[in-house]
Amino acid sequence: MRRTYVGRDIEVSFDLDLCIHIGVCVTGLPEVFELHRRPWVLPDASDAEAVADVVRRCPSGALRYRRVDGGPEEPPESPTTVTPLRDGPLRMSGALEVTRTDGGVDVTPRATLCRCGLSANKPFCDNSHLAGHFRAPGARLRIPASPVRRSTDQPIAKSDDPRG
Ligand code: SF4
Ligand code: FES
Repeated sequence: MRRTYVGRDIEVSFDLDLCIHIGVCVTGLPEVFELHRRPWVLPDASDAEAVADVVRRCPSGALRYRRVDGGPEEPPESPTTVTPLRDGPLRMSGALEVTRTDGGVDVTPRATLCRCGLSANKPFCDNSHLAGHFRAPGARLRIPASPVRRSTDQPIAKSDDPRG
Protein backbone atom coordinates (compact mmCIF):
# COMPACT_ATOMS: atom_id res chain seq x y z
CA MET A 1 0.00 0.00 0.00
CA ARG A 2 1.37 3.42 -0.98
CA ARG A 3 1.61 6.08 1.73
CA THR A 4 2.14 9.76 1.09
CA TYR A 5 4.26 12.16 3.14
CA VAL A 6 3.32 15.77 2.47
CA GLY A 7 5.89 18.54 2.74
CA ARG A 8 5.85 22.25 2.05
CA ASP A 9 7.65 22.00 -1.30
CA ILE A 10 7.52 18.33 -2.21
CA GLU A 11 5.34 15.31 -1.49
CA VAL A 12 6.99 11.88 -1.24
CA SER A 13 5.12 8.58 -1.47
CA PHE A 14 6.33 5.09 -0.56
CA ASP A 15 5.14 1.53 -1.22
CA LEU A 16 6.93 -1.10 0.89
CA ASP A 17 5.67 -3.89 -1.40
CA LEU A 18 7.87 -2.53 -4.19
CA CYS A 19 10.97 -1.78 -2.11
CA ILE A 20 13.95 -4.07 -2.77
CA HIS A 21 15.99 -2.66 0.11
CA ILE A 22 18.83 -1.09 -1.81
CA GLY A 23 19.14 1.74 0.73
CA VAL A 24 19.72 4.69 -1.61
CA CYS A 25 17.15 6.63 0.42
CA VAL A 26 18.50 6.08 3.94
CA THR A 27 22.13 6.58 2.89
CA GLY A 28 21.43 9.41 0.42
CA LEU A 29 19.58 11.78 2.78
CA PRO A 30 19.46 10.34 6.31
CA GLU A 31 17.87 13.53 7.67
CA VAL A 32 14.87 12.96 5.36
CA PHE A 33 14.72 9.15 5.28
CA GLU A 34 15.16 7.58 8.73
CA LEU A 35 14.07 3.96 9.06
CA HIS A 36 13.12 4.01 12.75
CA ARG A 37 11.56 7.46 13.01
CA ARG A 38 7.81 8.15 12.64
CA PRO A 39 7.07 9.42 10.10
CA TRP A 40 10.08 7.82 8.45
CA VAL A 41 10.02 10.44 5.65
CA LEU A 42 10.33 14.16 6.49
CA PRO A 43 10.18 15.85 3.07
CA ASP A 44 10.97 19.31 4.51
CA ALA A 45 14.18 18.20 6.24
CA SER A 46 16.20 19.05 3.12
CA ASP A 47 16.02 21.03 -0.07
CA ALA A 48 13.21 19.79 -2.39
CA GLU A 49 15.62 19.26 -5.29
CA ALA A 50 17.91 17.11 -3.13
CA VAL A 51 14.90 15.02 -2.02
CA ALA A 52 13.76 14.64 -5.64
CA ASP A 53 17.27 13.56 -6.68
CA VAL A 54 17.39 10.75 -4.10
CA VAL A 55 13.85 9.59 -4.97
CA ARG A 56 14.81 9.40 -8.67
CA ARG A 57 17.65 7.06 -7.71
CA CYS A 58 15.30 4.57 -6.00
CA PRO A 59 15.44 1.78 -8.60
CA SER A 60 12.24 -0.01 -7.63
CA GLY A 61 9.84 2.92 -7.84
CA ALA A 62 8.91 2.30 -4.19
CA LEU A 63 9.63 6.02 -3.73
CA ARG A 64 8.02 8.64 -5.93
CA TYR A 65 7.56 12.37 -5.58
CA ARG A 66 5.32 15.22 -6.63
CA ARG A 67 6.50 18.83 -6.46
CA VAL A 68 4.07 21.21 -4.79
CA ASP A 69 6.36 24.25 -5.18
CA GLY A 70 6.08 24.34 -8.98
CA GLY A 71 9.48 22.66 -9.36
CA PRO A 72 10.11 20.09 -12.09
CA GLU A 73 8.35 16.73 -11.87
CA GLU A 74 10.31 13.56 -12.67
CA PRO A 75 10.64 13.30 -16.45
CA PRO A 76 10.15 9.69 -17.59
CA GLU A 77 13.39 8.46 -19.08
CA SER A 78 13.31 8.24 -22.85
CA PRO A 79 13.73 5.82 -24.49
CA THR A 80 12.40 3.19 -22.08
CA THR A 81 15.30 1.07 -20.85
CA VAL A 82 15.45 -2.49 -19.51
CA THR A 83 18.62 -3.47 -17.67
CA PRO A 84 19.15 -6.98 -16.26
CA LEU A 85 20.87 -6.66 -12.89
CA ARG A 86 23.42 -9.31 -12.02
CA ASP A 87 21.78 -12.20 -10.13
CA GLY A 88 18.65 -10.07 -9.72
CA PRO A 89 15.68 -8.34 -11.33
CA LEU A 90 15.17 -6.37 -14.53
CA ARG A 91 15.60 -2.69 -13.85
CA MET A 92 13.13 -0.66 -15.92
CA SER A 93 12.87 3.07 -16.49
CA GLY A 94 10.63 5.11 -18.75
CA ALA A 95 6.93 5.88 -19.00
CA LEU A 96 5.92 2.51 -17.56
CA GLU A 97 2.50 0.97 -17.05
CA VAL A 98 2.93 -2.24 -15.06
CA THR A 99 -0.12 -4.51 -14.74
CA ARG A 100 -0.35 -6.23 -11.37
CA THR A 101 -1.78 -9.73 -10.97
CA ASP A 102 -5.01 -8.24 -9.57
CA GLY A 103 -5.43 -6.27 -12.81
CA GLY A 104 -4.47 -2.92 -11.28
CA VAL A 105 -2.07 -0.81 -13.32
CA ASP A 106 0.92 0.90 -11.75
CA VAL A 107 1.99 4.01 -13.68
CA THR A 108 5.58 4.61 -12.70
CA PRO A 109 8.86 6.01 -14.02
CA ARG A 110 10.92 3.21 -12.41
CA ALA A 111 10.39 -0.46 -11.55
CA THR A 112 12.33 -3.62 -10.76
CA LEU A 113 10.65 -6.68 -12.27
CA CYS A 114 11.23 -10.29 -11.26
CA ARG A 115 13.22 -12.49 -13.64
CA CYS A 116 13.98 -15.38 -11.27
CA GLY A 117 10.35 -16.52 -11.13
CA LEU A 118 10.31 -16.70 -7.32
CA SER A 119 8.72 -13.39 -6.34
CA ALA A 120 5.51 -13.54 -4.32
CA ASN A 121 4.63 -10.09 -5.68
CA LYS A 122 4.99 -10.62 -9.44
CA PRO A 123 5.61 -8.93 -11.72
CA PHE A 124 7.66 -6.96 -9.16
CA CYS A 125 10.84 -8.28 -7.58
CA ASP A 126 10.53 -8.92 -3.83
CA ASN A 127 14.14 -10.02 -3.24
CA SER A 128 13.24 -13.74 -3.32
CA HIS A 129 16.11 -14.14 -5.81
CA LEU A 130 18.49 -13.89 -2.84
CA ALA A 131 17.05 -16.87 -0.93
CA GLY A 132 16.73 -18.74 -4.25
CA HIS A 133 20.42 -18.15 -5.08
CA PHE A 134 19.40 -16.97 -8.55
CA ARG A 135 22.40 -16.54 -10.84
CA ALA A 136 22.33 -14.64 -14.14
CA PRO A 137 24.60 -12.16 -15.85
CA GLY A 138 23.83 -8.46 -15.78
CA ALA A 139 24.87 -5.02 -14.66
CA ARG A 140 26.25 -4.68 -11.18
CA LEU A 141 24.12 -2.54 -8.85
CA ARG A 142 26.15 -0.80 -6.19
CA ILE A 143 24.42 -1.50 -2.87
CA PRO A 144 25.65 0.61 0.05
CA ALA A 145 25.75 -0.77 3.58
CA SER A 146 22.70 0.72 5.26
CA PRO A 147 20.09 0.13 7.97
CA VAL A 148 18.04 -1.88 5.45
CA ARG A 149 21.02 -4.12 4.46
CA ARG A 150 22.96 -6.09 7.05
CA SER A 151 25.28 -7.08 4.23
CA THR A 152 25.04 -6.76 0.47
CA ASP A 153 23.25 -10.06 0.10
CA GLN A 154 21.14 -9.84 3.26
CA PRO A 155 18.48 -7.15 3.42
CA ILE A 156 16.10 -6.97 6.34
CA ALA A 157 12.93 -9.00 5.78
CA LYS A 158 9.84 -7.05 4.80
CA SER A 159 8.14 -8.46 7.91
CA ASP A 160 10.91 -6.87 10.03
CA ASP A 161 10.82 -3.56 8.19
CA PRO A 162 9.56 -0.90 10.63
CA ARG A 163 8.06 1.05 7.71
CA GLY A 164 5.42 -1.67 7.22
S1 SF4 B 1 14.27 0.39 -3.13
FE1 SF4 B 1 16.00 1.25 -2.02
S2 SF4 B 1 15.93 3.45 -2.36
FE2 SF4 B 1 13.92 2.60 -2.90
S3 SF4 B 1 12.74 2.82 -0.99
FE3 SF4 B 1 13.62 0.75 -1.01
S4 SF4 B 1 15.51 1.01 0.18
FE4 SF4 B 1 14.88 3.06 -0.42
S1 FES C 1 14.32 -11.26 -9.48
FE1 FES C 1 13.95 -10.59 -7.44
S2 FES C 1 12.38 -11.93 -6.76
FE2 FES C 1 12.74 -12.60 -8.80
